[in-house]
Amino acid sequence: MFNRLQQKWKVNGLQVALILCTFAIGGSLTGYVGRKLMNLFDIGPEWLWIVVYILLVTLLWPLAVLLVSIPFGQFRFFVSYLKKMGKRMGIISREEPGAGSQGPVKQIAIFASGAGSNAQKIIDHFRENERVKIALIVCNKPEAGVLKIAENEGIPALLIEKEQFFRGNAYVPALKEKNINLIVLAGFLWKIPVALIQAYPGKIVNIHPALLPKYGGKGMYGQFVHAAVIAAGEKESGITIHYVDEHYDHGDIIFQAICPVFSGDTPELLAKRIHELEHKHFPVVVEELLLRGV
Ligand code: GAR
Repeated sequence: MFNRLQQKWKVNGLQVALILCTFAIGGSLTGYVGRKLMNLFDIGPEWLWIVVYILLVTLLWPLAVLLVSIPFGQFRFFVSYLKKMGKRMGIISREEPGAGSQGPVKQIAIFASGAGSNAQKIIDHFRENERVKIALIVCNKPEAGVLKIAENEGIPALLIEKEQFFRGNAYVPALKEKNINLIVLAGFLWKIPVALIQAYPGKIVNIHPALLPKYGGKGMYGQFVHAAVIAAGEKESGITIHYVDEHYDHGDIIFQAICPVFSGDTPELLAKRIHELEHKHFPVVVEELLLRGV
């Protein structure tokens, strides 16, 4: 159940626990305050009492969970959760994230070194979204497939070189010039330099093709990861989307999803299953992050 909630809410295991606590305490608080308020008034017939009570708790509940979510550090989650509920119930209009007058268009830079299938999925996901723009593809390999994708999609590409990335300005001015709000690493294999992390604190996310903290670190990318998972006899693997810090595959985990590893799997077969998971979840998680104001 925990895993399903993690996938549904696009959060990590600890967050699921904190969110469930918020629901439980917020619900109890609603009932308590609701009854206290009802005692202040003398409402005649029982049916009327019940109707007024239901209306009251319906109004109180969102306020209670928002309040309780603050000490649990889940305020952002509940704001977006309540917005979603409001949209489903028709109370809030169904606009694209940030549509209308809700602030400037969010600009994403995708960093990728490979074929770019994840980049393509993210581009496809936001194609019709007027409030989110894939403004730049950043790549360190002239022969990478992702550059072809950038060309086909008419997205500017920036081919970076090692010296400037690691010992120069890490291309921060070029990213700032494009007003980049979020950096998405989709198969980018260089470590992110501190200068870039400091310029975009909490705004760089990476996808890793295994269940971190296992099978991460230097040299752990693509087929090497899948080969290691199979060699270790794991029964499950999966994907991890996480914030980027100054260590390889290390920052706070945002989301994980699991898939089976079958006996007789080759790295290629497992890679295919992992890619399917990545394509399904990565664009949605990126959108959730933008909704939460990342
Ligand atoms: C993806 O599977 C991604 O998880 C992995 O590279 C692949 C890129 O595929 N990233 C890492 O291994 C990072 N350590 P793509 O180019 O088809 O999107």
